[in-house]
Amino acid sequence: MKSIVSALRWIARLDGLAALILGVILWTGNGSYLKLHIMLGFILTLVLLLAGLMGFFARLKPVLPLVAILWAVSLPYIGFAQLKLMPGSSHIAIQVVHLLIGLCGIGVVEALGAKIARQA
Ligand code: HEM
Repeated sequence: MKSIVSALRWIARLDGLAALILGVILWTGNGSYLKLHIMLGFILTLVLLLAGLMGFFARLKPVLPLVAILWAVSLPYIGFAQLKLMPGSSHIAIQVVHLLIGLCGIGVVEALGAKIARQA
């Protein structure tokens, strides 16, 4: 259990960092990495789902596993929705929300992974 959780944490860190770097490149107006960015985003989504399920199996209090599953749903939802939401000068707001949800997704895997490792 501990080694799977440790692997998930490392995947979230490295994959999240790569998604962040590509996101910043997208922000500068270079759209050619969008597909790769979305693929990395979905890997983080999968890691969040797995970490959430493992939290339930490890019999943690359900709050953090539920947060992980909620995050796994909202990350791709906001990621795609931002293409249509708040066009114009206020678009920056939804971009920042998307960035924060992405970064917090890495944090949720970290927090949950640490708790599962302590429990195991
Ligand atoms: C399934 C997950 C994800 C999807 C579907 C997704 C989708 C997208 C899309 C479609 C864009 C381009 C938006 C535009 O051209 O206006 C974008 C941009 C961006 N993404 Fe993601 N993304 C995901 C995960 C992440 C993660 C995990 C991070 C950070 C850790 C991140 C950070 C960014 C940043 C900084 C930008 C550029 C600014 C912006 O447009 O928001 N994304 N993403």
